[in-house]
Amino acid sequence: MSKTHVKMTINGDEVEALAEPRTLLIHFLREELGLTGPHIGCDTSHCGACTIDLDGKSVKSCTIFVGQAQNAEITTIEGIAHPDGTLHALQEAFRQHHGLQCGFCTPGMITRAYRLLQENPNPTEEEIRYGISGNLCRCTGYQNIVKAIQVAAEELSVKEAAQ
Ligand code: FES
Ligand code: FES
Repeated sequence: MSKTHVKMTINGDEVEALAEPRTLLIHFLREELGLTGPHIGCDTSHCGACTIDLDGKSVKSCTIFVGQAQNAEITTIEGIAHPDGTLHALQEAFRQHHGLQCGFCTPGMITRAYRLLQENPNPTEEEIRYGISGNLCRCTGYQNIVKAIQVAAEELSVKEAAQ
């Protein structure tokens, strides 16, 4: 199949490439761009390991073609930390509160939580659990993931109030 010119902004950088339009976005990110933070954890679109942020929404990047991301604004886990390299409040909270074990689900989980806290800056525990229900974790039992997201939400709202 012929390749087409695709253009999008990824983690603040404009990216242009030739790609088969029906290439899955997760394959484009990982194999063409070397962004291997988003993982592939299933072939049924249920695990959420491939979650990215696309035009302000959490998207499982194994569910769309690269051609559908034309001109999109994308953030992957590689773009979540601050430009000076310090960790985002979510990353720090996952680290401090043991929100991960093997880490396989973590890029997708944090990228989802990043959008969740923009959709709802002060979520209840139930809202967090519902909000991450598209992201599966085989290790943690979720308790520490939920705790980490709660801590990050508090941290971010304190920062917001101080601004
Ligand atoms: S790889 Fe499992 S939902 Fe995308
Ligand atoms: S930490 Fe292992 S799958 Fe979530």
